[in-house]
Amino acid sequence: EKGGYDYFMLKEIVEQPKSVADTLLGRVGVDGTLTLDEMRLAPSDLRDIEKIVIIACGTSYHAGLIAKYAIEHWCRIPCEVEVASEFRYRDPILNRQTLVIAISQSGESMDTLMAVRYAREQQARVLAICNVNGSTIPRESDGVLYTHAGPEVGVAATKTFLTQLIACYLIGLYLAQVRGLKFGDEINAVIAQLANMPEQVERVLATVEPVRNLARTLSDASTVLFLGRHVGYPVALEGALKLKELAYMHAEAFAAGELKHGPIALIEKDLPVVVVVPSREGRSVLHDKIVSNIQEIRARGARTIVIAEEGDETVRPFSDELIEVPAVPTLLQPIVATVPLQVFACELALAKGNDVDQPRNLAKSVTVE
Ligand code: F6R
Repeated sequence: EKGGYDYFMLKEIVEQPKSVADTLLGRVGVDGTLTLDEMRLAPSDLRDIEKIVIIACGTSYHAGLIAKYAIEHWCRIPCEVEVASEFRYRDPILNRQTLVIAISQSGESMDTLMAVRYAREQQARVLAICNVNGSTIPRESDGVLYTHAGPEVGVAATKTFLTQLIACYLIGLYLAQVRGLKFGDEINAVIAQLANMPEQVERVLATVEPVRNLARTLSDASTVLFLGRHVGYPVALEGALKLKELAYMHAEAFAAGELKHGPIALIEKDLPVVVVVPSREGRSVLHDKIVSNIQEIRARGARTIVIAEEGDETVRPFSDELIEVPAVPTLLQPIVATVPLQVFACELALAKGNDVDQPRNLAKSVTVE
């Protein structure tokens, strides 16, 4: 049942093109109209929404962080993202016009479930993004969008993360559609691009062998830093989390712009630093800024491992290792940029002899607060 792989995680990484296709299946019409039936929230309800609050834990929280960039840009609705365990303890402001999106692969994380219950008590509408049919969080929510990724056995979330992102994009694009297409052309272009995502992930998977080789050389590193900007920042957070949980290594992610506010003091000779470079489309200013960050850390002797879109020659001179991913619209870049980081963490953990399906101290669903 591991499909010829030694670990479920390896199989689950490789099946991501299909998982992403399954999340999209039946939801995107040929004319770009989105159908999200099980959402059970009427368009009239969605037009009244004044604020969105996303709650989740761990990897699902990282999906939420990325969703914020997309939803605020496409829908112009203020959107907050919070780890579920903090949410109900700070007296958050919620009402009937608040849409709470609870993201949980298992649908059983106690922190997220308690936050959902709290939000409903405060009259907010709750929409779940979930992978496990009939689990508790979707049952207690007003509506649900299932990710349809199939069972994920490896404890570390991989295919469910990519499919959560797709679900978040679908919700953002759907909200933009029902609320009257502020950026109609851009929305339609992104919807068209979503259909290509399975193929783009396939292309990334076909080129990850150098990432495996690189990971094997780093098993003695004491720490790995990850930098990103815009949606590349949550991707960096996810890369660091994967490394901690699988390889039991210290890893930390920073928003690249924060580097000069402190973390640059950590940079020393041979320190591996992974940098997620935003795509150039529409955001060339950000792109240029991160290129200067890469120059700064390299000048201090760091070993730069750069993830950038194909054909981005500006980063090559400053990259000790360059990992190229297909060029896609900026907001969709996490779909392709995360995959090499999953492979990186998995391979590094295997090089250390760890069980990547069952990392120490972790459980697939965390049913205690
Ligand atoms: C990371 C991981 C955890 C989960 C977190 C939330 O690889 O698996 O961080 O993402 O425990 O779990 P769900 O999404 O089931 O609520």
